[in-house]
Amino acid sequence: MHNLPNLHLINPTIYNMDNKEIIKRIEQLKREKNAVILAHYYTRPEIQDIADYLGDSLGLSQEAGRTNASIIVFCGVHFMAETAAVISPNKKVLIPDPTAGCSLAESITGYELKKWKEANSNGLVVSYVNTTAETKAYTDVCCTSANALNVVSSLPKDKEILFVPDANLGGWIQKKTGRKLNLWNGNCCVHHKISADMIKQAAEKFPNADILIHPEALCSWDDEVLSMQNVYMYSTAGMVKHAKNSNKKQFVIATELGTIYKLQQDSPEKEFIPLNDKLICAQMKKITLEKVLDVLENETNVVSLNAELSQKAQKSIDAMLEIKG
Ligand code: 13P
Ligand code: SF4
Repeated sequence: MHNLPNLHLINPTIYNMDNKEIIKRIEQLKREKNAVILAHYYTRPEIQDIADYLGDSLGLSQEAGRTNASIIVFCGVHFMAETAAVISPNKKVLIPDPTAGCSLAESITGYELKKWKEANSNGLVVSYVNTTAETKAYTDVCCTSANALNVVSSLPKDKEILFVPDANLGGWIQKKTGRKLNLWNGNCCVHHKISADMIKQAAEKFPNADILIHPEALCSWDDEVLSMQNVYMYSTAGMVKHAKNSNKKQFVIATELGTIYKLQQDSPEKEFIPLNDKLICAQMKKITLEKVLDVLENETNVVSLNAELSQKAQKSIDAMLEIKG
């Protein structure tokens, strides 16, 4: 588990304010303090509504690097805010709830990765961005679900690849690239619920729909699923783009359900059917308007990283960004 700052209690006066007042105060503080709000697609609708930038893991880290703001309020889970702090060491990154963790990022520690690497000295470590800064510090190159195929294909053929932490994403990359990977046995507690049977049932029930699946899903390396028509594997941002540009009218969404809010806003005339109503990341939902206002007002829950660790982690992110495609 990541280091938590001292417990900070929200000012009770915030709880006496209604959402309209909270949003007004947030907007005012943003202007006064030159702050921006970055939010992931899995956050609550009211958080998505106040975001200056809404995106997936990679898009958010890139935006953190681009923004001229002095303060970033990062509405997402802890590893994402940490990644923003690695990319933007001179900006103050605030996380509205520092206990918002991620089962995937927490499935490997820096120490475990160090040991695994020592035992496989010819191996290159590829880490999914859903990892802590400590894990990234022992990583050769990071990847996201959007660029993983390119990253893995670009690595020298005579090297073994140690892929962490998501075995489902890794399994999918193996199938698509034909390259053998050594997989760490981690998973996301939300996407790991998505089975091949669920997809087959959805395909029978909605024969005209496109089925959009996140490659963190348990079924992402199932041969039958991969050979099905109208089934697409996408990162969250990839799904948003596909649904917006497609002529189809109906989509089954096999990822965290917060994504549907954005999909519906972009294409109100299309129908988005959740694959399963349990695909909810409770950690992402910990971010509330009250907590956003509180951190902005008091500049608490600052994400701080050891400088040496941060520089090492930055190298693995830079290595990813240097790979084209
Ligand atoms: P992306 O945001 O890269 O699609 O990853 C999904 C996820 O589970 C983020 O926590
Ligand atoms: Fe982590 Fe999964 Fe939640 Fe994403 S959806 S933050 S990978 S637990």
